[in-house]
Amino acid sequence: MKIAVIGSGYVGLVTGACFADLGNEVICVDNDLDKIKKLKNNKIPFYEPGLDNLVKVNVREKRLSFTSEISEGVKESEVIFIAVGTPPREDGSADLSAIERVGKEIGTNINGYKLIVEKSTVPVRTGEWLRNVIEKYNVNNCEFDVASNPEFLREGTAIQDFMNPDRIVIGVENEKAAQILISLYQPLNAPILVTDIKSAEIIKHASNAFLSMKISFINAVANICELAGADIKKVAKGIGLDKRIGEAFLNAGLGYGGFCFPKDLDAFIAISKDLGYDFKLLKEVRNINDYQKLFPVRKLKEIYGNLSGKNIGILGLAFKPNTDDMRLAPSIDIINALHKEGANIKAYDPEAMENAKKIFKDVSITYCDNSYEVAKDSDAIVIVTEWNEFKYLDLFKIKDLMKDNVIIDGRNIYDRKKIEKLGFKYKAVGR
Ligand code: UGA
Repeated sequence: MKIAVIGSGYVGLVTGACFADLGNEVICVDNDLDKIKKLKNNKIPFYEPGLDNLVKVNVREKRLSFTSEISEGVKESEVIFIAVGTPPREDGSADLSAIERVGKEIGTNINGYKLIVEKSTVPVRTGEWLRNVIEKYNVNNCEFDVASNPEFLREGTAIQDFMNPDRIVIGVENEKAAQILISLYQPLNAPILVTDIKSAEIIKHASNAFLSMKISFINAVANICELAGADIKKVAKGIGLDKRIGEAFLNAGLGYGGFCFPKDLDAFIAISKDLGYDFKLLKEVRNINDYQKLFPVRKLKEIYGNLSGKNIGILGLAFKPNTDDMRLAPSIDIINALHKEGANIKAYDPEAMENAKKIFKDVSITYCDNSYEVAKDSDAIVIVTEWNEFKYLDLFKIKDLMKDNVIIDGRNIYDRKKIEKLGFKYKAVGR
């Protein structure tokens, strides 16, 4: 099938490359000329395991190409996925201006039947609105359908998630649109749920809100565990083995970050308000997350009282492992708070340091080449992101290099007994 994917960011590029790999002819479009130039030279503008190779192979096989012209993508394709950004406005609602621009361009350039699919995360009823935008510019009066096909990819495992999804959700207005999308996804052999457009739009927000709620719930229970002297890891296991609850997303830690959960939660709260419902539960999910992020700062203050002049080492900056994404990462709140307390900060992350440097312009941080450099002369080390390499550090060496012996394990990656035997003072979440 001939496909255009408009927006070559994280979602768009992964979607485009994967559809190409399934044998379709895909044009990825982006208005960022520099990005398109890089992509044409096989350079991926962000870190995602396996994506560089997937792009390279499919470009070589002539199934994947790039352009900065929406008109080219529209004219050449039957199915057009919209994967442009929907950043938050000040009140938390999604800014749809990029989608509006794309809708206008699609309407202007439409040259035959097109199925236009929302891939970006959008508020319920965006489908209806998008149809009107396109119709307004559709001077040639071409037939088209709008559909919603929310994405559930996770950064770091996006290709695997695309190729092996738990489900595919297709929100459509008619059978023709449903059949096109079903045949497009048929090679994946995954359960397909066909709904109306509005339900598909809500499925996306409700999924992310539910997962955020699970994380905040377990973090709140972790705080209870700490107060009661119980172990959150065992409690999470005991809860999760109930199939109705499930074990996934019950890792207590420093809360969720990234550009999806925090932004989508705010957007869902704003959508609910617009529709006349005060979604108080989700507001509390957000409050718990905000509190949880500063766990390491609270613990360090309990230990040292005053953090002024203390050397604090940060291991992990990205909002989660296997990504260089720093957007709304808990490390930002933690480092800003430590900086405010007057601490000296050293940090290391395997992938996210370049992005971190752009964010912490006003905070003095010593960026290190590895964990051992961070440990040198540190009073305390904080595990902020659970990269695999942090799980296998030579902790004897770390202890030798440190000035004091405090480890704040914000992601519960170490065994308390082993760590304490080595002579560390160890604080973990809910254990
Ligand atoms: C999330 C969803 O998982 C995807 O299904 C969705 O497509 C995507 O948002 C999106 O809307 O674009 P992502 O943000 O890449 O994916 O990351 P997750 O792996 O879901 O993790 C989100 C955050 O939750 C991370 O900060 C992670 O550290 C945190 N988390 C996750 C926990 O604190 N505990 C857990 O048990 C699981």
